Order: sequence, then C-alpha cells, then structure tokens
Amino acid sequence: MNIDFSELTATPIAPDIVMPEGLAADVEYVFSVTYTDPDAMEVAEFSKAAAIAIEREGLSLGTYPPPLGHEGLRKFISKELKSNRGLDISPDNLFLSSGAGGACQTIVDAFIDAGDVVMMDEFCYHGSLNMFLRKGAIPVHVQMDNDGMDPDALEVEIKKKLSEGIKPKLIYTISVYHNPTGATLSLERRKRIVEISGRYGIPVVENESYADFRIDGPELPPAIMSLDETEGVMYISAFTKLLGCGLRLGFGAFPESARGPMQKIGFGASPSHLSSMVVHEYLKKNKDSYAHGVAQSLGAKRDALIRSLGEYFPPECSWTEPEGGMMVWVELPEGADTWAALDSAVEKGVKYNPGPVFRADRSGANRLRLTYSHNSPEDIEKGIAILADVFEEQGLFNS
Ligand SMILES: Cc1ncc(COP(=O)(O)O)c(C=O)c1O
Repeated sequence: MNIDFSELTATPIAPDIVMPEGLAADVEYVFSVTYTDPDAMEVAEFSKAAAIAIEREGLSLGTYPPPLGHEGLRKFISKELKSNRGLDISPDNLFLSSGAGGACQTIVDAFIDAGDVVMMDEFCYHGSLNMFLRKGAIPVHVQMDNDGMDPDALEVEIKKKLSEGIKPKLIYTISVYHNPTGATLSLERRKRIVEISGRYGIPVVENESYADFRIDGPELPPAIMSLDETEGVMYISAFTKLLGCGLRLGFGAFPESARGPMQKIGFGASPSHLSSMVVHEYLKKNKDSYAHGVAQSLGAKRDALIRSLGEYFPPECSWTEPEGGMMVWVELPEGADTWAALDSAVEKGVKYNPGPVFRADRSGANRLRLTYSHNSPEDIEKGIAILADVFEEQGLFNS
C-alpha cells in the first residue's frame, strides 16, 4: 500500500504564511538574500584552520558536544562581546545555535505560546517574523525611524494591550543595521527600552546579526543586554553572515533565570561541532583583519548600490544609506506594488524582497529591500538598471 504523506500533515498552529513564489527562483542578480560576501571570503586560510582544528580536536567528534556547544568558541565569544559590544557575559550563559535563526527559534520554542503578543519593529526580518507567526504569536509592529524602534510608540502600544487585559510576552528588535531598513537603535533609545522593559516586566530579545559589519559612521552603541540590570534581556547573533551561511553557526546569550526553560528544550538544535571548532580556530587568529576586509568589500558594494539607485531610479523614490550591514530599504511612490511586480523582475533575472514580507499584516507594498552582499559592484549596477526598467514598464514609478 502506498503511503501519502500529504494526508499525514500536522495541523498548523498558525494559518499558512504566504510568501511570494519569485523569492525561490534561480536568477542572475540576487538582491533578496544576505549571503556571506563571496569576494571577501578567505577559503585558503579557512581550510588551514580546518586542518589544524581537526588534527587537534578531531577525536572529540566521536562523542556528542556539550549542551551549550563548543567551550573554546563560547569563551572566544564571551571575550568578543566584552570588547566589542560592552557585554559582560559568562561562557556558561552562551549557547551555540544553528545560525542566528536557530537561536531565535530556541527562544520562540522556550517562551512563546499561541496567542502571545510580541512587540516588534515596524518592519521585521521575515525569517524571525515567520517563526513567531508559525508558533501562533500575534505581532504588534512598533513605529521606527533611522534611530530604530521608537520607545514612545512602544510604550503606547504596550499600554493599549494592557488596557485590553493582555500583557505582551516580549519585545523583539533587530537593533544593529536593522533588517530590512539598515537603522541602528540609538543609545538613548536603548536605555529607554530597557527602562520600559523593566517598568512593565516585559523582556527584550535583541538580534545583533549585523554587528560585525560596520562600514563607516559612528561606533555602534553597546548591546542592549549590557545596559540592563534586571536580567531581562536576551541576545542573538551569528557567524553565518561573516564567515559562511552554510556553516550554520550562531549563538545566544541568556540571563540565569532563562536557563531552566531553555535547558528543557536542550537549547534547541545544536550546531555541528566540526563547524564550531573550525570557526573558533579561524577567528581567534583572523577575526579582526578578516572583518576589516569584509567591511571594505561591503562598502564598495553598498556605494555601488546607492550610486545605481541614484542613476536609474527617479526622484520620486527614496532609500536609506546604511553605515553598515547588508541592505538598503527603498520606498516607491504610494500605490506601487512590489509584491505583484516581483514575477516580472524574476523573468528578467532579478529578485528582491517586497516590503509586505516584513509585516504580519502584509502592508507596505510600495517598499522593497535590496541586499548588496552577494553581487559584485559591476553586477549591482547591471541588476539595478534592469530592475528600474521593470518598475518603469510596470508603472511602479508613477503610481
Ligand atoms: C536579523 C536576522 N536574524 C537571523 C537571520 C538568519 O540568519 P542565520 O543564517 O544566521 O540563521 C538573518 C538572515 O538574514 C537575519 O537578517
């Protein structure tokens, strides 16, 4: 008897999350994913680090890794967080994960129930948003601008929910070179968000996946977690964007009171111990010089994207000019539908993220996110010229 798995599908907690089909297409000019910058990767050096790590620690692959992950790498992360993000955290309060996405999923699995209200940025990276939606959470998008989430708006939304008898479960923010807008949460706002979190007893989860990618502009403000004295903040980041998305290596930092719930679910799916040992070996010798090279390469690509937008997009459009990270957020005239236009762009070999994928209510159709880490500066210009032609043909520039 043949078995039909489609008849066995588990009942989804949340309604299906609709995403544009074009995002899965294979095209020449990819502006829709924050891949590791291939022009800055040092494959030969990485391969040497792999050989050294395997010779030294390879026998440890015979057993299961510790629940929190590779100890040497956690010690390295602890030192880095102290010197780069002002965050004093013990290696015992760090867990390694399958990318930043894995750390986020672990937190969602440990703390989110169906029906929980989650405060999040006005636009939120679709991967995280979809994790909350799949668990049945109810996102409340909080207004933001170039300085990140607006604390006044956050407090208004929290009070609104409290007046309905609902206490939000947590505040989730991508606080550095935000995905999708590129904004960085200012120091003043970080302090206010910590204060609001403490006042209402709602924890904060900050995702700093892009902290290693400062191109220019001022130094980053310290991590929100470093400003908190109430043990009410959790932290997420990763090495995926820096060293290789395929390594699937990220991490989370948690306060002591979160240990129990996270331990219950084994700190999520732990990453490959082989990845961890190689990344540790490579980073302890090369982190600063490699990150510098990545920032330089990304700077040239960001500049090519901004230049090309200026050349090919009409003055009715506007876009952010981020000081780091991997993406530019574009606004087209009111009425433009970037979701509907994606298929035409894909036919011409270009893909991007339509604005509505970053909102639970699927609004924001006149926005789009363009990432610049993957293509060369020359290809960025070619791809943007094609995209401008498509938008012109489809009438998006004069909506
Ligand atoms: C803010 C943010 N969090 C998480 C992820 C997932 O990344 P990873 O490959 O580290 O799981 C991404 C990827 O784009 C991201 O931008």
